[in-house]
Amino acid sequence: MSAPSSTILWCRGGSEFSRAAADHVAALLARNPEAVVALPTGQTPLGLYAELVARAAAKQLSAAQARFFNLDDYLGLSVDHPLSYARFLREHFLMPAGVPKEHIRLLRGDAVRIEAECCDYEAAIAAAGGLDLAILGLGTNGHIGFNEPGSDWSAQTHVVSLSPETRATHVAQTQGKFAIPEYGVTVGISTIVAAREILLLVAGGAKARALAALRRGIPDPRWPVTALLTHRNLTVLAEAELQSAAAEGVMAPR
Ligand code: GLP
Repeated sequence: MSAPSSTILWCRGGSEFSRAAADHVAALLARNPEAVVALPTGQTPLGLYAELVARAAAKQLSAAQARFFNLDDYLGLSVDHPLSYARFLREHFLMPAGVPKEHIRLLRGDAVRIEAECCDYEAAIAAAGGLDLAILGLGTNGHIGFNEPGSDWSAQTHVVSLSPETRATHVAQTQGKFAIPEYGVTVGISTIVAAREILLLVAGGAKARALAALRRGIPDPRWPVTALLTHRNLTVLAEAELQSAAAEGVMAPR
């Protein structure tokens, strides 16, 4: 078995960051047009999605044969709710990139039988052949998807109680316009680390502590992102501005 391989790429924020992320995804789609990809929500991947949509419009890439899942959503929101991650992904990426509906499976946060939905979701990922690539954002508290500090790293898709820090961040992002749900539903850490490749996107000064935890190189349940340290094909794309703030040791899987 090959040794874990982690790469950290530093690049300037804005369009340089978005292009670097899009290059990574485009390279996968060129190698494997039918790739199975898990997508994050949030401010960080917005530039990536805009870049992918622009490249698809310019016929520089096609996402039409790939299959897409999302990582997480709020519990109890319909897929059309303005806060819904499913809606976000449809609007910012899946529809403008021309991904056919039958290639999209998004978590239904408002499923009446949510446990059954979680099982179906895992089954759909497995039926697709597993994830070729999981693209991740990073929470200020180190969460990936909605796997909060203290999460069970062996969990698959499940319902989670959102931490006060996560909810406060989201209240601020929505300028208090919406009540932020207390619960989310997320692909579990075991599902994420089973992806054949992981791309972690880290942007914004508030992420320095979480990135520093990753760079310490020690798996620590208080920092869910450190579950990625054992992964065999992890690329971290981080804004150069974070390099000194997050410089606590060198990222090295143990
Ligand atoms: C949310 C989502 C995560 C996302 C994270 C970072 O909590 N559940 O999937 O990665 O926020 O978001 P942002 O990119 O807006 O900082």
